[in-house]
Amino acid sequence: MSPNNILSLGFLMTCFMYLLFGVAMSFDPHLPDISMLRSCNIDKIYQLGDSLSDTGNHNIENPFDQCSMPPYGSSFFQKPTGRCSDGLLMIDHIASAAGIPFLNPYLDASANFSHGSNFAVVGSTALSVQSMATQGISFYVTNYSLGVQLHWLSKHLSSLCESEIDCRPKKMKNTLFMVGETGGNDYNFALLEGKTIDEAKSMVPEVVGVIIDAVRRVISLGAVQVVVPGNFPIGCVPIFLTAFQTTNATAYDKNQCLKDLNEFAVFHNQYLKQAISILKKENPETKIVYADYYNAFLWLLENCSYLGFDITSALKACCGSGGKYRYSSSRVCGRAKLPVCSNPDQFISWDGMHMTQRAYKFLAKWLVADILPQLNCNFNIADS
Ligand SMILES: *[C@@H]1O[C@H](CO)[C@@H](O)[C@H](O)[C@H]1NC(C)=O
Ligand SMILES: *[C@@H]1O[C@H](CO)[C@@H](O)[C@H](O)[C@H]1NC(C)=O
Ligand SMILES: *[C@@H]1O[C@H](CO)[C@@H](O)[C@H](O)[C@H]1NC(C)=O
Ligand SMILES: *[C@@H]1O[C@H](CO)[C@@H](O)[C@H](O)[C@H]1NC(C)=O
Repeated sequence: MSPNNILSLGFLMTCFMYLLFGVAMSFDPHLPDISMLRSCNIDKIYQLGDSLSDTGNHNIENPFDQCSMPPYGSSFFQKPTGRCSDGLLMIDHIASAAGIPFLNPYLDASANFSHGSNFAVVGSTALSVQSMATQGISFYVTNYSLGVQLHWLSKHLSSLCESEIDCRPKKMKNTLFMVGETGGNDYNFALLEGKTIDEAKSMVPEVVGVIIDAVRRVISLGAVQVVVPGNFPIGCVPIFLTAFQTTNATAYDKNQCLKDLNEFAVFHNQYLKQAISILKKENPETKIVYADYYNAFLWLLENCSYLGFDITSALKACCGSGGKYRYSSSRVCGRAKLPVCSNPDQFISWDGMHMTQRAYKFLAKWLVADILPQLNCNFNIADS
């Protein structure tokens, strides 16, 4: 069943329940229970990526950076963990749904990696810091770009070998590899450093090339299930809405998002999907699944009031201040002492760049519904 079928079935069921019970419950555009992911018998998850997925690597690299400061983590951990949210990220919601613990950050040498490891690093790019510099983009947060993370993954997998003979790539049937989201920062840094959207577009072939090479690499390391996320509609994100704010009303779409930036995200996503479809033909034995962050987000945004979010705050940062979007690049959450909204659960955006744990929960739910039918969920042998 496609997610649209599942969605409309859920919708019909909801309407039916209204008729049956006449209850005044809030309308919930129903999705299948996220814990259906358990049927896939996922025993390990390896995650590559950036601040959308980092569960503590950058916190170890730089314990004083933005996401390591209060009020990050306040809705779940009651303290910062390095996650760029008030609580859980999509990968945390996905790991829980799969029935495994939250992924520990790889840089935590003492951590337990029996159910996988998280290599994602806040601020990382798909391109290396050096290739970003040759494109004239000197801003960077970390040197731990995708290539470095792949090196860590490869080192980690070979450390699991019990003997040299066992070290040839073993097919990992119960292991899920998440290659991204990655690449978003390559464009974010370019655009926020003043490059035009056309200049950012010219980076797309190279960025997608690096992502696809990463997928090839994890397949060569034994991956048989790989999820490759696209980008969010960045024209709906407070940091970009603020940086590209204009009095030109036709620049905005029906959701009050910036059309050109969303169209740019679509351009990257189409390019990535095209490259994935070629890769799938080359690797018929491997499940390579595109994760549609773009439409997951639009679903959340357009249905936000039904899902219990405050529609008047849909494009505003919970932790932030200043301007139409409660965001100011000179005073960001965690760095400056800023007002935090009293109801983060009613906000989509946490800090103007990253989302709240409740937004991530719904996005994870939508994504699992979309991805589930495309994974290997009918095997029982726990021999990953
Ligand atoms: C790591 O965690 C697993 C289950 O989550 C547990 O069975 C195992 O004993 C742990 N290993 C260590 C060394 O603590
Ligand atoms: C990143 O690498 C550059 C060049 O090797 C070095 O100068 C810089 O200190 C590194 N930065 C970090 C954060 O490791
Ligand atoms: C207004 O925005 C639209 C859409 O981005 C663009 O096509 C148009 O050229 C802009 N008009 C002006 C006067 O900048
Ligand atoms: C909002 O939810 C309804 C019901 O699930 C769905 O049909 C609709 O497509 C959603 N909106 C978007 C933009 O996905």
